[in-house]
Amino acid sequence: MKWTREKRYLPYSKWDAETLRDLQAEAANSAYQMHYHLHPISGLVNDPNGFSYFNGEYHLFYQSYPFGAVHGLKSWVHFKSNDLVHWINLGLAVKPDSKADSQGAYSGSAREIDGKLFLMYTGNHRDENWVRTPYQIGAWMGKDGVVKDKTVLFKNPDHITEHFRDPQILKENDTYYAILGAQDKAEKHGHIDVWKSKDLKNWEELGFLNLSDHDLGYMIECPNIVRVDGKVVVIFCPQGLDKKIADYDDIYPNMYVIADDIDFENHRLINPGPLQNLDEGFDVYATQAFNAPDGTADEVSWVGLPDTTYPTDDENWANCLSQVKKLSIHDGKLLQQPVETIKSLRRHAEKVSGKTIKENTTGQYELKLNISANQTGSLHLAANDDLSESLQIKFDTKTGKLTLNRSKAGKQVAVDYGTTRSTSFTPHEDLKLDIFVDHSLVEIFVNDGEHVLTGRFFTDPANQRIEFGQDTNYQGTFYNMEPIL
Ligand code: FRU
Repeated sequence: MKWTREKRYLPYSKWDAETLRDLQAEAANSAYQMHYHLHPISGLVNDPNGFSYFNGEYHLFYQSYPFGAVHGLKSWVHFKSNDLVHWINLGLAVKPDSKADSQGAYSGSAREIDGKLFLMYTGNHRDENWVRTPYQIGAWMGKDGVVKDKTVLFKNPDHITEHFRDPQILKENDTYYAILGAQDKAEKHGHIDVWKSKDLKNWEELGFLNLSDHDLGYMIECPNIVRVDGKVVVIFCPQGLDKKIADYDDIYPNMYVIADDIDFENHRLINPGPLQNLDEGFDVYATQAFNAPDGTADEVSWVGLPDTTYPTDDENWANCLSQVKKLSIHDGKLLQQPVETIKSLRRHAEKVSGKTIKENTTGQYELKLNISANQTGSLHLAANDDLSESLQIKFDTKTGKLTLNRSKAGKQVAVDYGTTRSTSFTPHEDLKLDIFVDHSLVEIFVNDGEHVLTGRFFTDPANQRIEFGQDTNYQGTFYNMEPIL
């Protein structure tokens, strides 16, 4: 099928129910589909949106294009949860059904205000000449889950181009603030733009955040701010960032900065630290973090990248979300860890030992390993019998280096950006790995979340061996994981 612009932006009502059912069946029946991570019911999923706590439950939405593996007319699909692990699908919540979001209900955030959930997002509007206006929209969701009262709050001011989107709504003292990704007209550089409002109706621009002394490429998407253990963490996606400023391999990275504090009124971070790569794997983007009322900071990422094709495009669906990760700061370092409740998915614990960890798996498991200090070697996941095909993790606890290699992991993805990703850790110490595999998704937590490497891989689903390439001194536990949906 050929995707024309007209087809990608066709109103949802013009698609027939049978087509949608076929697409749903394709996504559900795929051997690459995830079973304990949020994934597309049909079509394409991208950014997590509106991650929030409302009416005693967690709420999370994602960007969805239900009719194929392309970035077409976007909407928000709604999920809720009591434990950040099991989610109930509440269906389409924000539809592109007004003039302001006529070409897509783009990304945004949510926050409980006066007993309702306030949603703030970008309406992607294009006129008949395809000229874009990014409207920032407010809407309200009641306890019934119905989103209504969409109102345009503001659009791009004169000094900002059409690239102005992804508002995060925040509150400090009695004032609401919103931060947005923006491109200035004069230099065409990426920024985080700070806005303020007392009543959620009248909004005033304060200015760009002092993220860094460097220019951060041509656009910043999906900015968010979260308080973690007394610090302020700013998470964002710079596009076109010079690799001399911060090291990354993906087409676009998901970066963060830790600051001592933030002065919203003066749009200033206090003592911002260096730019750092949030995830050192292959496919993390558009991570959204928020502070729950009890102060905890949780984040969830899109596992997928813009402008990238994936093997399941041929099955008309693409991408998924990461598991929810809890943020903390220790010794000035950001840690990202699985939430405690993920343990509720473990079926039973099996101590593993020897070179062959498992001859077979269901493709849906957690593997916790403690690899003793001063060893080098490789671990093969999703391997065939002779290990000629696998997703490989190379480790060197002498120099403190880990490399994830997907060059022999079946169908390839974005090879122009390399087939390996590496991270460093303290040498001559045991290496702790908490590895989550969900069919075609791997999330590797290194040393209690000091580093995370997330990636998709598309090996032959029959390849389910887990084996070290050599005798290795380690302790390990293997858990099958239950499905969540
Ligand atoms: C990031 C992004 C956002 C935008 C959304 C549209 O992946 O491009 O900037 O709001 O996706 O789906």
